[in-house]
Amino acid sequence: MVTWNAEQYLKFADERSRPCRDLIGRIALGAPKDIVDLGCGPGNSTAALVKRWPEAEITGLDSSAEMIASARGAYPEQQWIEADISTWKATKPVDLIFSNAALQWVDRHEQLLPRLMVMLNPGGAMAVQMPANYHTAPAHRAMRELAAGGRWRDKFPSEVRRWHCHEPDFYYGVLQTVSPKLDIWTSEYIHILNGHEDIVQWYIGTGLRPYLEVLAESERKDFIAAYQKRITADYPRQPDGHVLFPFRRLFFIAYR
Ligand SMILES: C[S@@+](CC[C@H](N)C(=O)[O-])C[C@H]1O[C@@H](n2cnc3c(N)ncnc32)[C@H](O)[C@@H]1O
Repeated sequence: MVTWNAEQYLKFADERSRPCRDLIGRIALGAPKDIVDLGCGPGNSTAALVKRWPEAEITGLDSSAEMIASARGAYPEQQWIEADISTWKATKPVDLIFSNAALQWVDRHEQLLPRLMVMLNPGGAMAVQMPANYHTAPAHRAMRELAAGGRWRDKFPSEVRRWHCHEPDFYYGVLQTVSPKLDIWTSEYIHILNGHEDIVQWYIGTGLRPYLEVLAESERKDFIAAYQKRITADYPRQPDGHVLFPFRRLFFIAYR
């Protein structure tokens, strides 16, 4: 079970919230009354939804008790539910199901997405963003390769995590029969970071977590140091010392 740390996740709050704002900006709904934010984390995606639709009833849902506690502390006026997306069922139809940077942790999208669509009111929408760089980004490849070789191989006898973001044609195939209007796109953001240490810190908040949880406390520092060394050549420093960190993301909005 992967645990989450809200403080670590929020270190890159600005970079992480931009795709969320971009997705919200593209949702063509007038005044949705009931909204649910699946995998709401510490509540920043939920807060962005509140900003666009202040009159709506908005519920944030997350399976991490720590994330829900952090969200509740920051935004006590909202409703928060601790639950698992893969088994959650809305108690009444909603107008918008929103999920920013969470569904890649959930399996079997070909079953999950049609199931979620049924929970929408007619005219409602499901809007999703996920990182779409697992197979291509050197930063992800480095985690997998590091865990599969040398002194680390025995610590990770099986695949540490699976990533559940597919290419656009997969989502078209799954959603076109249940949605008369679909919007699907990808964007590559270029984050300008201070150094390789920032890439490491970025992933300690997300993708490296499942690896670090397998290791003993005493081994984590070495794993992180080896990881940082490995990614250094893949992300060359700019003449002014900054490091460019490209990040591809997939978006879709399925209207019902
Ligand atoms: C990367 S964070 C995204 C947080 C927030 N949506 C945002 O935009 O900043 C991913 C969140 O998904 C949650 N999550 C992962 N798997 C989940 C599941 N099966 N059910 C509910 N939440 C889940 C994690 O606990 C984490 O808070």
